[in-house]
Amino acid sequence: MSIVPTGNAPGDSWRGCRNPMAAARAQAYGGPREAVLNAAGFAAAQAAVMRWPDYAATPLVTLPGLAARLGLAAIHYKDEGVRFGLKSFKALGGAYAVYRLLARTVAERTGQPPPDVDELLSGRWRDITAGLTVTCATDGNHGRSVAWGARLFGCRCVIYIHATVSEGRRDAIAHYGAEVVRVAGNYDDSVRHADAQARANGWTVVSDTTYEGYRDIPIDVMHGYGVLSQEVIAQLGHEPPTHVLVQAGVGAFAASVAAAFWIAWGPRRPRFVVVEPTRADCHLQSALAGHPVAVTGDLDTVMAGLACGEVSPAAWEIVSAAADAFVAIDDAHALAAVCAFANPCAGDPAIVSGETGATGLAALLAASEHPALHELLALDADSRVLLLGSEGDTDPALYRQITGRSADEVRR
Ligand SMILES: Cc1ncc(COP(=O)(O)O)c(C=O)c1O
Repeated sequence: MSIVPTGNAPGDSWRGCRNPMAAARAQAYGGPREAVLNAAGFAAAQAAVMRWPDYAATPLVTLPGLAARLGLAAIHYKDEGVRFGLKSFKALGGAYAVYRLLARTVAERTGQPPPDVDELLSGRWRDITAGLTVTCATDGNHGRSVAWGARLFGCRCVIYIHATVSEGRRDAIAHYGAEVVRVAGNYDDSVRHADAQARANGWTVVSDTTYEGYRDIPIDVMHGYGVLSQEVIAQLGHEPPTHVLVQAGVGAFAASVAAAFWIAWGPRRPRFVVVEPTRADCHLQSALAGHPVAVTGDLDTVMAGLACGEVSPAAWEIVSAAADAFVAIDDAHALAAVCAFANPCAGDPAIVSGETGATGLAALLAASEHPALHELLALDADSRVLLLGSEGDTDPALYRQITGRSADEVRR
């Protein structure tokens, strides 16, 4: 295994390694990975999500000024900050899984085929759906999506947040009518708590992470995320990027993007770099160990959506084969990236990206300072890099604190 020789000491601004488990580039997508995520699942999710009120593809923004500054051929930024008014790609996953769960339950109770999106939205099955409760643990964005989906499709919702989730993120979930409960400990503790409460009360967990005996709903979540990748594939046309930098918490997002690009582009798929915080680097540590390992502690990082200590096992089946490299980045680079997007290079538009949304740029900025990281990412003047702006200002107060301006002021 090749661990990059510098940047691995405690307190360093980054760590990284090449992926010793990476599948050969020529290897087709398939086998056990297909049992997790597949083309049919992505297509079904896209067909459903396109029926949701106000669906629109989010923009793919080109940043020639930033690319020139970093010595790259091109940078594309997929801006999920405008997704369904929820300000993150997470809107796609949790809400899609809620839809699938309710449709399945209606089918079981009536003996009829599962209702489609329009039928469920019409309220025709409200007497069944209103009696159901969905729940999950969240560090913010996933819970917001589940709460929004519950309101849209008509069921009850209880969301658990852990100790360091900000009040702003709490309020954003409550805004969609969910009951929000704060519990002691870190994200992984809140996952266990939600599971115990669901068992005790007969509720259904709609989690973005898989665990022993629980896979189908998180797989729906990952297929829902795939809408973003299908949009990118259409927006880029026939030329795949050379690199994609994907931020990872439990890895469901990374798995979804990796599977969709592998299916669409085969051996022409971009170099896949998984980026996470140095304080919550469970993917990097799992890659180094050769199997999933848990990272403990408070996992405290400004990249709130990535404060996870354990990979999602089903997602890991895909990410462990698809990733070319794993990189962990410190908070300082994430904050610098948020500010770099807000204060664009000449010729580029200003972009409102939250701390978790800016993680890919954080890695690029660190790579421009550290030759070993530059080499690990295999960047050069021909690189066309796709950054996944997974969120906008999901915590507006924090965003203002970081940039000194509101999202509206930055966009002006
Ligand atoms: C904005 C944002 N980006 C990325 C992620 C990472 O997704 P995953 O936990 O599936 O790796 C999250 C997770 O909450 C998130 O909120």
